[in-house]
Amino acid sequence: MSLQGKKIILGITGGIAAYKMNFLVRDLLKSGAEVKIVMTKSATDFVSALTLSTLSKNKVYTNFYDENKTWNNHVELALWADLMLIAPCTANTLAKISSGICDNFLMAVYMSAKCPVVIAPAMDLDMYAHPTVIRNLQTAESFGHQIIPAEFGELASGLVGQGRLAEPSTILSVLEKQFSDAESFSGKKFLITAGPTYENIDPVRFIGNHSSGKMGFDLAKEAARRGAEVILISGPSAEKIAAKNITLLHVTSAQEMFDEVFQYYEIVDVAIMSAAVADYAPKVKATEKIKKNESELTIELIKNKDILGTMGEKKSKQFLVGFALETQNEEQNAKEKLIRKNLDMIVLNSLRDEGAGFANTTNKIKIFTPAEERSFSLKSKEAVAKDILDFIEEKL
Ligand code: CTP
Repeated sequence: MSLQGKKIILGITGGIAAYKMNFLVRDLLKSGAEVKIVMTKSATDFVSALTLSTLSKNKVYTNFYDENKTWNNHVELALWADLMLIAPCTANTLAKISSGICDNFLMAVYMSAKCPVVIAPAMDLDMYAHPTVIRNLQTAESFGHQIIPAEFGELASGLVGQGRLAEPSTILSVLEKQFSDAESFSGKKFLITAGPTYENIDPVRFIGNHSSGKMGFDLAKEAARRGAEVILISGPSAEKIAAKNITLLHVTSAQEMFDEVFQYYEIVDVAIMSAAVADYAPKVKATEKIKKNESELTIELIKNKDILGTMGEKKSKQFLVGFALETQNEEQNAKEKLIRKNLDMIVLNSLRDEGAGFANTTNKIKIFTPAEERSFSLKSKEAVAKDILDFIEEKL
């Protein structure tokens, strides 16, 4: 793989690992990339702008204007780039990214950039484990940015732990993969559903389930990272997402999800139903709060429309993917659903597998198509999303 002709902005912030950027810049140029560097003021205390300018064969930007008072156009620079890499990214710059504080040239370039952003954090181990850093990394991820996790090893403080900047060779291969992935679903439209549905009993109560929505949101992020245009229809969920090629639509009930899905189904190439849709809803939704006057209360339920089943019936060009969450006869039930709902593929998770299912951040899946089956080990939901999309990519 190479980065031939790719335009990369490297944003360097003030950490000891900044010196490693000398090696990364050399490798990026060897790989064919054109590199323009932006440094924060404190980064210049750790590594010389002159060295980086010599290695990158370009001017290095450290401020809104140069010594001769010519203005540096941050918008032009941001729009020039195919990718912006921020490495090393300090806790301070990470906090600015997550909250939109634009108090230096690097942040102005970052906030003007429309290209994919990759962030490689580096800091001391206790800082890296601080709740604010964990939250800010999650926020940056929810913007669609790719994070290259810090590595374990000896730190500048003399302590040993996680916080070291990923090695330049690792960063280089992440960038190469980012460019090759970015084209794999380009021009494709994805419809993804996520989360539970809530079926109202009265104005204050509902029937719901424990789905967090994380699996569907991770699928949406990964599909978007690979160049797809994604319509994400989610039931009530605490998950956040703000990537630019994802349109997030909120629904509450199964009927609302049904209506929203069929607004878009016809135009999509791939549909993934990872939502945990309620199978039944109260026959009557009380308009006033139900009072506890009786010693027993019976709520009559009626079956919701099967969204995925209807998608299967109406299928034309779409590659249709369903999920099955089972507690018994898992494989047999999943295969039966695959055929009954006219799917191209079904993803099975069993609640009998520890770490799989709704409320976990991990999942263990098995994929079935009419012709084959493949098992995967227990992984984070982000990694499971990659496996599912790799499989879809193979089949398209
Ligand atoms: N699903 C759907 N509409 C429904 C119920 C389920 O689209 N009303 C979808 C889910 O999003 C999932 C798949 O169907 O992709 C399987 O859901 P699951 O609840 O496991 O299966 P059901 O078909 O509802 O069958 P059962 O509840 O009997 O196992």
